[in-house]
Amino acid sequence: MEKINVAPANGKLGVLCIGMGAVTSTFMVGTLMSRKGLSTPVGSLTQLATLRVGKGDQKQFKKFGEVVPLAQLDDIVFGGWDIFPDTAYESAIHAEVLKEKDINPVREELEAIKPMPAVFDHRFVKRLNGTHVKKQATRWELAAEVREDIRRFKEENNCDRIVVIWAASTEIYVPLSKEAHMDLASLEKAMKEDDTTNIAPSMCYAYAAIAEGCPFIMGAPNLCVDMPAMWEFSKKMNAPISGKDFKTGQTMMKTVLAPALKTRMLGLNGWFSTNILGNRDGEVLDDPENFKTKEVSKLSVIETILDGKEYPELYGDIYHKVRINYYPPRNDDKEGWDNLDIFGWMNYHMQIKVDFLCKDSILAAPLLLDLVLLSDLAKRAGKSGIQTWLSFYLKSPMHDLEHKPVHDLFEQFAMLKNEIRRMGGYEADQEVD
Ligand SMILES: NC(=O)c1ccc[n+]([C@@H]2O[C@H](COP(=O)([O-])OP(=O)(O)OC[C@H]3O[C@@H](n4cnc5c(N)ncnc54)[C@H](O)[C@@H]3O)[C@@H](O)[C@H]2O)c1
Repeated sequence: MEKINVAPANGKLGVLCIGMGAVTSTFMVGTLMSRKGLSTPVGSLTQLATLRVGKGDQKQFKKFGEVVPLAQLDDIVFGGWDIFPDTAYESAIHAEVLKEKDINPVREELEAIKPMPAVFDHRFVKRLNGTHVKKQATRWELAAEVREDIRRFKEENNCDRIVVIWAASTEIYVPLSKEAHMDLASLEKAMKEDDTTNIAPSMCYAYAAIAEGCPFIMGAPNLCVDMPAMWEFSKKMNAPISGKDFKTGQTMMKTVLAPALKTRMLGLNGWFSTNILGNRDGEVLDDPENFKTKEVSKLSVIETILDGKEYPELYGDIYHKVRINYYPPRNDDKEGWDNLDIFGWMNYHMQIKVDFLCKDSILAAPLLLDLVLLSDLAKRAGKSGIQTWLSFYLKSPMHDLEHKPVHDLFEQFAMLKNEIRRMGGYEADQEVD
């Protein structure tokens, strides 16, 4: 077995969040509260789960952090960017996800987290008008400024390493461009020529993070790093990248239910998913151009699990529809309904209904923590490019042009565990725990 050398997690880990809204502030509050022993990081595998390593009488169950060297919560230093100057404290209060009594014990730390001015272009998020934004002329100069921000933050906070994660608003759909996205030289050319059609603001952050050799995670459905040019760059700069779109509520349920149907060889005629959501994310997604980005990400899930070519009699003709409705009274308390029209023995029709009353940011926060810690681990293990083993956390997992994404939550979980086993010096396996 080839041994993977993983550098120890010495020193401070800077976690730079792009977008300091509901998800980011909930992530920050929960992490700071947990490290003070005032809360429990529920939903985080890196903090709570055990992993079986070894087989037979060698079998042991260990915490993730006992198998591989993970950064400690105490070593995290938060920073970020937003188009509004609110501190993380103001943002957490404004988001109304958490109660003040759960925020106030870490108020001072949150007040010290002040966003840096953002790279923003109103055309990409038409429902927002930012004031706290960078003024540089071109996309190239904007990326250079973000690189400066990363270096300055690292030095001022005495960080050993930095991870950059996007949890900002979903941008409008940017289709893959032959001219700008297929290789690094074309991407850089487009940035220098200030091609504001093909180069979204998110790409300036991603380019900057990768240029600094930092892991980059795309938590929204933006194309951003999902292109050959960024894959090439991330390999060149030894930066692990992952994305896209945190897999939290409805899609998480989808990737649990769809494998159940397939395992039992039950058929599917249609899957209708609708949501009501009243936070700022919901408002942004109310714009058809921004919703398109989310729709593409959400729609990709079913057809790879329930493959119509493999099983035409069961999945050859599926009608799949996804809707998101902005409904302010609910704020962050999303309600997601799913209706599945399924069929069984002799094609007899049945239905499954799911009503998931969830809290979007509560589900997302532990994913950010795990993605940040595992991306930092990947970097220390010498990994670069697309991190498919992190697909477990993502709605529309990145993959290169030769591979298909894995959507099934349980297959994704096996990939995640095996990669951690490998990095911990154990053999990857398919044993039943
Ligand atoms: N919560 C979930 O379950 C979930 C799941 C998957 C994906 N997401 C995605 O995560 C993102 C964040 O969600 P949220 O609920 O925190 O939204 P939010 O609207 O509360 O926060 C987004 C923040 O990003 C800022 N922003 C917008 N454009 C920016 C830019 N170019 N640079 C820096 N900051 C910018 C906004 O000002 C806002 O503060 C969204 O894209 C959402 O689609 C959320």
